Amino acid sequence: MKKINIGTSDLQVGPLNLGGNVFGWTLDETQSFDILNAFTAEGYNFIDTADTYSVWKPGNIGGESETIIGNWMKVSGNRSDIILATKVGWDFGDGKRKGLSAKYIAQAAEESLKRLQTDHIDLYYAHIDDETVPVEETLTAYDKLIKEGKVRYIAASNLSPSRLTESLNLSEKMGLPKYQALQPHYNLLERELFETEYAPIASAHHLTVFPYWSLAAGFLSGKYRSEEDLSKSIRGQDAAKYLNEKGLNVLKTLDIVAHKHNSVPATVALAWLLAQPLVGAPIVSATSKAQLATLFAAPKLKLDHEDLALLDASSK
Ligand SMILES: NC(=O)c1ccc[n+]([C@@H]2O[C@H](COP(=O)([O-])OP(=O)(O)OC[C@H]3O[C@@H](n4cnc5c(N)ncnc54)[C@H](OP(=O)(O)O)[C@@H]3O)[C@@H](O)[C@H]2O)c1
Repeated sequence: MKKINIGTSDLQVGPLNLGGNVFGWTLDETQSFDILNAFTAEGYNFIDTADTYSVWKPGNIGGESETIIGNWMKVSGNRSDIILATKVGWDFGDGKRKGLSAKYIAQAAEESLKRLQTDHIDLYYAHIDDETVPVEETLTAYDKLIKEGKVRYIAASNLSPSRLTESLNLSEKMGLPKYQALQPHYNLLERELFETEYAPIASAHHLTVFPYWSLAAGFLSGKYRSEEDLSKSIRGQDAAKYLNEKGLNVLKTLDIVAHKHNSVPATVALAWLLAQPLVGAPIVSATSKAQLATLFAAPKLKLDHEDLALLDASSK
């Protein structure tokens, strides 16, 4: 499998980034282990999670996903084969744990390392900005973690374009660690913000792009085409907002391209992301091995100019 380097780092990852928000949410630990095993058996190595996943599930407290991944790496004895990304900053909702202050980052990193049962995080993301904290404080906190060997590289998600630029410039100016990757909301139905605001920054600063919600929470698999379909998954309501003319038009185009290649819409949607110049790997989750197979097919599917033009026109 061809691996790419993240940014200018020496971290090498395969062309799919397994999304970890389903671990402890729509999948229990045994089911999660099955998906993780199947993912690595295929030769992939890049896993994405966050400290808060999946705090939104009733009864959860956050940290479930990291705990499951930590247990899996321990049982599998494969920590050194995995490139592990996790995140800090999102609100746990307990009134205490959130933000990007130096004090909180140090605490959150320790808690993530404990749950993950590892001594280092390969790629540590700022999950969401904390505009109450100067970027210098946040970057200095990461610098300390890197010097302590607890974090290898850093990355950014959901920062405003101006704060992202400010951070990148300050890293260069002050010799502080620099974000190596960007995790934006980007897929066939969510193009404008990334393509107009973030892509130029990623390009100028050599950030590798790992889009999240690559399948628009499952919508781009084509399984939701009417209101009745929304009950097909616990996550159906998340896809409801795409049940409109544009969403259905994109699905129609995905059907045409999928038919031509004897493929399925989910595979084509991910292949489209992989055909975009700055994208290193789509971040995508699966709740069954059959779904996982549609993900594995994406890097093998080469879309031609005609396919890309059709998809571009329907999703613009
Ligand atoms: N940085 C951020 O703020 C942020 C925000 C959101 C997500 N993320 C990251 O991005 C990752 C991916 O997002 P996501 O998992 O929420 O959404 P997604 O990748 O867009 O959708 C994945 C879901 O779609 C369904 N699916 C996948 N393949 C399918 C197929 N072939 N046929 C039918 N259904 C299929 C599955 O859900 P069901 O089977 O349950 O329908 C699966 O869990 C997350 O795990 C997380 O790591 C980051």
